[in-house]
Amino acid sequence: MKEKIAQYIKDIQATSIENFKDKGAEVEMFRIKYLGKKGLVSELFEQFKTIPNDQKKEVGQILNQLKVAAQNKIEEFKSYVENAKEFEDIHDLTMPTNFSEIGSRHVLSVVMNEITEIFSRIGFTVAESVEIEDDWHLFSALNFPPDHPARDMQDTFFVEKTEGRQEVALRTHTSSVQVRVMENSKPPIRIIAPGRVFRNEAISARAHCIFHQVEALYVDKKVTFADLKQTLLYFAKEMFGADTQIRLRPSYFPFTEPSAEMDISCNICGGKGCNICKGTGWLEILGCGMVDPNVLQSCGIDPKEYTGFALGMGVERMAMLKYQIRDLRLYFENDLRFLKQFEAIV
Ligand code: DAH
Repeated sequence: MKEKIAQYIKDIQATSIENFKDKGAEVEMFRIKYLGKKGLVSELFEQFKTIPNDQKKEVGQILNQLKVAAQNKIEEFKSYVENAKEFEDIHDLTMPTNFSEIGSRHVLSVVMNEITEIFSRIGFTVAESVEIEDDWHLFSALNFPPDHPARDMQDTFFVEKTEGRQEVALRTHTSSVQVRVMENSKPPIRIIAPGRVFRNEAISARAHCIFHQVEALYVDKKVTFADLKQTLLYFAKEMFGADTQIRLRPSYFPFTEPSAEMDISCNICGGKGCNICKGTGWLEILGCGMVDPNVLQSCGIDPKEYTGFALGMGVERMAMLKYQIRDLRLYFENDLRFLKQFEAIV
């Protein structure tokens, strides 16, 4: 009897649910076979009653081992079946997923990319440069004389102002990229420089100490003001719609001569006059002009051979006009109620 029971224990231990075809039904058959009312274990306990007393202790022990082995095996089967069920649930590809929130581009990136793309369609390539600049690239090479009042036009964050050393500052405009590019390449030059700029301004709805600009520069033989004007018209129509008109007003920048500011017809009232354009029908958009010969000279380009135009615009302002955003601070507060309004724009 002992050998028989030992064999059953071995059989139980060797049984693997992996080999069951209909797992639920075969687990039940297994249970009935060993632990059912008329199963092997009860049958053996019946026989146990009849064995001689001196064998009872030994056979009783091994018989209990058989019962425990069968019970453990059934527990093992059950947890296998449960796990398998969970696994199936997870791998049901037809189940709807838990949607995890994905982010979207910031409206400033969207607008900056759009401006860049419009210019890239007419042959401009992107140029990027450092945000911490020296005096030369920020002012001197751009024709700002040391004591020129134009330097005061931009309240600058100086990083280092040590006696006898180059002044280093957070760049106040992306025009510094013009200098870096002209110093390092030969005409024809046609670049667009998007980037972050910094000015020491009190933060309000209309001013911020960090903002973004896009600069464009075109230098080649025989570049004229007509090229500038045509490029501006193309840009305005692409950016604000085909009906958009432009006008140029004379202005002053140290690095361009002549200089101008460009207005577009108000895209909100269509030029009739509204509170956005303050009743004028025009919106101020950007600064531009023909690159001053002194700037070309400073950057190692012969102004007798080459001419060029440059323009620069504020990205925050573009986005404000395009999407009627009224407060500059919204761009930097990361309020999801604001950011989510631009989710659909890519
Ligand atoms: N750098 C000027 C600013 O920050 C913008 C600007 C004006 C850039 C005229 C230009 C330009 O390239 O030609 O206000």
